[in-house]
Amino acid sequence: MPDSLAPETVEQLLRGRLGRPYLYEEQCGSTQDLLEPAMHEGTVAVADEQTAGRGRMGRRWQAPAGKAIHCSVLLKPPPARRAPELSLVAGIAVADTIERTIGFAAQIKWPNDVMLRRAKVAGCLAEMRDGAVILGIGINVNQTREELPPVTGSPPGSLFVATGQEWPRAALLAMFLADLERCYSEWLAGGLDSLYPYLGSRDFLRGRHVSVNGTSGTAVKIDRAGRLEIAVGHGEVRTVESGEVRYER
Ligand code: BTN
Repeated sequence: MPDSLAPETVEQLLRGRLGRPYLYEEQCGSTQDLLEPAMHEGTVAVADEQTAGRGRMGRRWQAPAGKAIHCSVLLKPPPARRAPELSLVAGIAVADTIERTIGFAAQIKWPNDVMLRRAKVAGCLAEMRDGAVILGIGINVNQTREELPPVTGSPPGSLFVATGQEWPRAALLAMFLADLERCYSEWLAGGLDSLYPYLGSRDFLRGRHVSVNGTSGTAVKIDRAGRLEIAVGHGEVRTVESGEVRYER
């Protein structure tokens, strides 16, 4: 029997203001489409199954019903903050939640993936709409190896595959929303710079050979503004703002 993400299970676990209100659908197209900019900041939409889940670059995001966390959070940051950084902010929160829950180190693969034992266990998607940000997070929790989607960029993983045990999604979701609220508040106050200690130390690509938008070389680091620095040879370092990364495994 899969554990439930229905309001009667999750709402009693919520500690902060994210998830109030908490919108839940057993099945929907994409949780990203359940939120509207006119709703209250902090509204969260969750579904046990998405029939048209989407990722970055027009990719699909798929998971069998009741095995993963699909959630979208409505945020309204001030214009002074760079909203695309919220993918990294969400990545830090997911990594915090995973590490505290399962006790393994998680890394962040720029710009929006969370990695566990070299496999992608979560992805974050920041979509801007009328000045608001709909921040979508997918976390692979209890999928078996066979239930994971085919490899696109990174090999896919789940908490179950990494640990050999199932994890309660409702408790994970509530912990994640509390971690996201804390990270979001820090980001509002001080930008990505104030979260940098939790980002730079988890940089999955650092030292790997990468290729992004035609720039190839060795990833130096995610910088304090959330960009990727790539050493392209002869002492030259280029900085990439966004893009799709290919990397050597
Ligand atoms: C990526 O890795 O490309 C981002 C994946 C984001 C997936 C989540 S699942 C919840 C929300 N609803 C969607 O359709 N997408 C995001």
